[in-house]
Amino acid sequence: MTADVKDARTAPVAVWSVLEKMSPEERQAWRLAPLENKLSVVERNLDLGFAFGWYPMLLSKELEVGVVKPLRYFGQELAIWRGEDGKARMLGAICKHLGAHMGHGGKVHGNYLECPFHAWRYDGEAGLVKDIPYSPSIPSRVQKKCKKTWPIVEANQIVWAWYHPEGVEPLYPVEHIPECSDPNWTAYQETSWNIWGSLQNIGENGVDFAHFQYIHGTANLPDAKLKWGEWDRSAIVRAKMGTPRGMVDGTISSKSIGPGQSWVRFEGICETLLIACLTPVDEDHVHVRYFFLQPKDSKTGRVAQAIIADVVKQMDQDKVVWDRQHYVYTPIICEGDGPIAKFRMFYSKYYAGHDGKPRHLLKEKA
Ligand code: FES
Ligand SMILES: [Fe+2]
Repeated sequence: MTADVKDARTAPVAVWSVLEKMSPEERQAWRLAPLENKLSVVERNLDLGFAFGWYPMLLSKELEVGVVKPLRYFGQELAIWRGEDGKARMLGAICKHLGAHMGHGGKVHGNYLECPFHAWRYDGEAGLVKDIPYSPSIPSRVQKKCKKTWPIVEANQIVWAWYHPEGVEPLYPVEHIPECSDPNWTAYQETSWNIWGSLQNIGENGVDFAHFQYIHGTANLPDAKLKWGEWDRSAIVRAKMGTPRGMVDGTISSKSIGPGQSWVRFEGICETLLIACLTPVDEDHVHVRYFFLQPKDSKTGRVAQAIIADVVKQMDQDKVVWDRQHYVYTPIICEGDGPIAKFRMFYSKYYAGHDGKPRHLLKEKA
């Protein structure tokens, strides 16, 4: 196979046999489609729980004042709404009264969420029932906090929720990225996927150096400089990027804070910023939305689109593996693999409630 100048990848990779048969429309549908013959979470060792942190829920513009929407993340049914004061709030969607789903047919009453079934009204910040229009009294069990509350902030055009299984308050902030509110940068260009695997396995991909050659077809192992902070980690990779003008030397700098905030800057011939939104729906399902933005004055339209297409293609290639990947508690690592053990030790800090023991060491299986 000859190198294609539109493509930074040089070697044929096995997963292309899955992907190349698809038309662009079929590939688009495949990115989101349910997976057939899926094994159970337990069979795949994906019963790891969810890592704590800030996670993207939806775009700010997708939640207008007075609107309630259903969401499913962290294995829970959720209802998110924007009150008349403009603030977004979120609660578990199932009503304490008789179990209606408040994300479907619920209403915003002032800043409260009103259940569609009998109009009980919930205060999202306090996690309790504030009003029952037809009743002179409120049962004592729902007068006080009866629902988990969710810290919410908005940044980078996104509504973020803090997830912690034990209700610990946020341990670090959501980072504001200046380009996301800069009028000189383009609107978000989106591609989304359902990945039928675990968020931890997806995160591990960036330090899995050997796979770049076999899944993505890169000619050489990337030259990556990794930094591990208290809650964040970052990488600077100098790599060749394929463009319609041939190969260019580029720099790819990525940063993640906790399991749910990550972004990537591509610099070289055309600046591109990727806001990567990955939120776990269930232990074997991650909703991924990639938002790309570029400087408006960029004179490199085709190149800019080629960079985006290349990143999207890499995600497609990884998805083929992630959709069926098991979690191996004690992987056998060889020389040439990246710092996978280090990544797992680092990532384990995001799992709560295990006395600080690395989560992946708790349930060793043969
Ligand atoms: S079920 Fe929600 S008010 Fe009755
Ligand atoms: Fe990858």
